[in-house]
Amino acid sequence: MTSNEILLAPADLVFPTDFLWGAATAAYQVEGAVAEDGRTASIWDTFSHTPGRVLQGDTGDVACDHYHRYREDVDLMSRLGLSSYRFSVSWSRVQPGGRGPLNPAGVDFYRRLVDELGERDILPWLTLYHWDLPQELEDAGGWPVRDTAYRFAEFAGLMHEALGDRVQHWTTLNEPWCSAFLGYGSGDHAPGRNEPAASVRAAHHLMLGHGLATQAIRAGTMPAQVGVTLNLYAVSPVSETEADADATRRVDGLANRIFLDPVLLGRYPDDVVEDLRPVTDMSHVRDGDLEVISSSLDMLGVNYYTRYVVCAPEMPDGVDDRWRSAPSAFPGSEHVQFKDRGLPVTAMNWEIDAPGLLEVLRRVSREYTDLPIYLTENGAAFDDVPDSEGRVEDAGRVDFFAQHLRACHQAITEGVPLRGYFAWSLLDNFEWGFGYTKRFGITYVDYPTQRRTPKASADWYAQVSRRNGLAAE
Ligand code: FCB
Repeated sequence: MTSNEILLAPADLVFPTDFLWGAATAAYQVEGAVAEDGRTASIWDTFSHTPGRVLQGDTGDVACDHYHRYREDVDLMSRLGLSSYRFSVSWSRVQPGGRGPLNPAGVDFYRRLVDELGERDILPWLTLYHWDLPQELEDAGGWPVRDTAYRFAEFAGLMHEALGDRVQHWTTLNEPWCSAFLGYGSGDHAPGRNEPAASVRAAHHLMLGHGLATQAIRAGTMPAQVGVTLNLYAVSPVSETEADADATRRVDGLANRIFLDPVLLGRYPDDVVEDLRPVTDMSHVRDGDLEVISSSLDMLGVNYYTRYVVCAPEMPDGVDDRWRSAPSAFPGSEHVQFKDRGLPVTAMNWEIDAPGLLEVLRRVSREYTDLPIYLTENGAAFDDVPDSEGRVEDAGRVDFFAQHLRACHQAITEGVPLRGYFAWSLLDNFEWGFGYTKRFGITYVDYPTQRRTPKASADWYAQVSRRNGLAAE
């Protein structure tokens, strides 16, 4: 035991032994090096280079330069006492164009990264797809086209052959809701299409790709733990009326159940299929697809950020700016409205709602699965400003993590098999359509110099991981 550890006060809320304390990133958000060693463009390169798509015209061309600075970053993780690092693979780096043999130079980057993690005893948690489809596959139709699912499975199998000797934990997709409905529905994300029917087809083919990839990984000779990460929301009605209950059902269906039910129960929810009827007849779903989609898993990843509070779309008396139209990402969004309750928000304007996390965890383990659950993302953006010494005292972020970790602890006490927590994010990074304007990191990144400075939240999180717990209050 080091003297540092002796000084740590015992935690009131102690987590199970072997609980994973991690931090997460994603390839396009941190790597940079977009044209090096044979990498080809992904939909995010194209999208970010299209004027007007990303705030300030920011791109991931350099991002956090993690591709070149990964050793320094792993060193940082080690100093923070992290037990796991969740990262994603840039598909077009390892399989340029999304077809054909792997690119040895691209694979080598991930091999070196994983080996570096291994030397520090940090468990690699690999995500195969965090939104960066090779541009060539989008040119061939993208996720609304069935073939993309088969391309993804091939990529998954090849990656597992290449890295299965040193990576045990494999996540197929990150947040397919965003890929499908922000990418092809609202167009806020790459590839920026605004086609409701295509967004529903994309959701199906993403899930099919997940199922086929799971099977491809299992077909390999090396053992693997396979899961998927879904972004789940607590959803609740503004009032007790039947109309608001129906709006809640609808949003819950299109945000949560449209993925949870096929992946974990092997069926689409009838009411969601009915809600989608004006948009699609679901004839893209073929016999046998749902069996593939519900291939057995070893773990479930959950990302949680906030709650949706919804109601039927009649503007109440005394309308104020807390009432918003539902994002057009939801097909049928004219049937619902969202409400802000005036709770404290993060810099994303997302209300901070830790009880919502407890609700989500309870629900998943009661209604869907007894698989081990990992909170693969949770975190908050704030307008961090370094002081004269370059230090960021981000008390708001510490409080956010503390509230949500207490919710996690409560869930575990109630028997939810929650086995790990990954802070989003290790580093400030390219926050998609918001570019570099939103800082989610526990580490401050000064982009012009690429200097990394752990924020107060990083030091706090390091203590939590070392104590394997935190104070009750
Ligand atoms: C999630 C994404 C992640 C990051 C956080 C803030 O939806 O998975 O890449 O952008 O939101």
